[in-house]
Amino acid sequence: MTSPLVLGIETSCDETGIALVRGTELVADVTASSMEEHARFGGIIPEIASRAHLEAFGPTLGAALARADVDLSEVDAIAVTAGPGLVGSLTVGAAAAKALALSVGRPILGVNHVIGHAAVDALVHGAVPARSVALVVSGGHTTLLSVGTGITDVTLLGETLDDAAGEAFDKVGRLLGLPYPGGPHVDRLAATGDREAIRYPRGLSAPKDRERHAYNFSFSGLKTAVARDLEARTSRGEEIPAADVAAGFSEAVADVLATKALRACADQGADVLVVGGGFSANSRLRELLAERGPAAGVEVRIPPPRFCTDNGAMIAALGSAVVEAGLPSSSLGFGVDSSMAATSVLV
Ligand code: KG4
Ligand code: ZN
Repeated sequence: MTSPLVLGIETSCDETGIALVRGTELVADVTASSMEEHARFGGIIPEIASRAHLEAFGPTLGAALARADVDLSEVDAIAVTAGPGLVGSLTVGAAAAKALALSVGRPILGVNHVIGHAAVDALVHGAVPARSVALVVSGGHTTLLSVGTGITDVTLLGETLDDAAGEAFDKVGRLLGLPYPGGPHVDRLAATGDREAIRYPRGLSAPKDRERHAYNFSFSGLKTAVARDLEARTSRGEEIPAADVAAGFSEAVADVLATKALRACADQGADVLVVGGGFSANSRLRELLAERGPAAGVEVRIPPPRFCTDNGAMIAALGSAVVEAGLPSSSLGFGVDSSMAATSVLV
């Protein structure tokens, strides 16, 4: 029997992503982004993002259906991001998804964006295995999840208490005078620096944090340490060693992420670690996990970069897993939840 065809709709931030997935097979995936409209403001402007979704929705849906060569009436279920994210952006996607579901009489699934970042890996490496660990790192989230029977059954191990890893990179990018979003620029600059020249602090990694914060993260102290270091060098009239600063900072972030994720695998007896979210494009994190994962007997699964940034495929993949798990669909009256809990798979 062929698996149901699931339409996935993602509009939680600045990407309008629409995709079709059957089982764990990607059928079509189209993304429109409003990032260029935000770049000059140095951050996402929610009102601009909402309006961009409204404008991009129709053309993106049309392109996805055309690429899949299917009619909307052939879709078996419609999954849409219900949260977390920007409330206006989420509302545009949810309202559109409800209208589509109503028009073709299909179930609607209001699903979780953060879990979607891990679920998308099913399209590359097969279904996320039972008893694995998922690390989701992006501009908005740094979340460590324990996967039970599958990706629709997760418990929260830990998350950031302040900045997300990508957010910290964007802030350090700004301190170094790099364009927004700074993450990829800091990453490239770091590759040319000496990562041992400057040692920055590893947040929540002291022995005293081992019990309460074994799996939690904190990056705001690190960002402040970088800011103070730059100020001190400037006041001494020193030239800023930007590449070494970027390398030392990247090392501190990647080291903490890799250490805590692999510790979670060891503690949970998990032999697979799935990594997702825009930050998983970070080259130092990839290097460290590629080195330390196999050494710890852990298979590290990271989808290719196009599945790491926000997209419709992640939502369609999670919708497909929800259908597969036989979970009940959402009611048409569901509201979006800008701070949806990391363990709620769907509303
Ligand atoms: O998942 P995503 O596309 O959007 C959110 O849901 O936030 O992640 C974007 C974040 C940004 O903060 C961006 O600077 C960061 O991921 N990022 C990176 C890299 N590529 C993207 N950070 C460090 N190194 C990278 N190579
Ligand atoms: Zn995201």
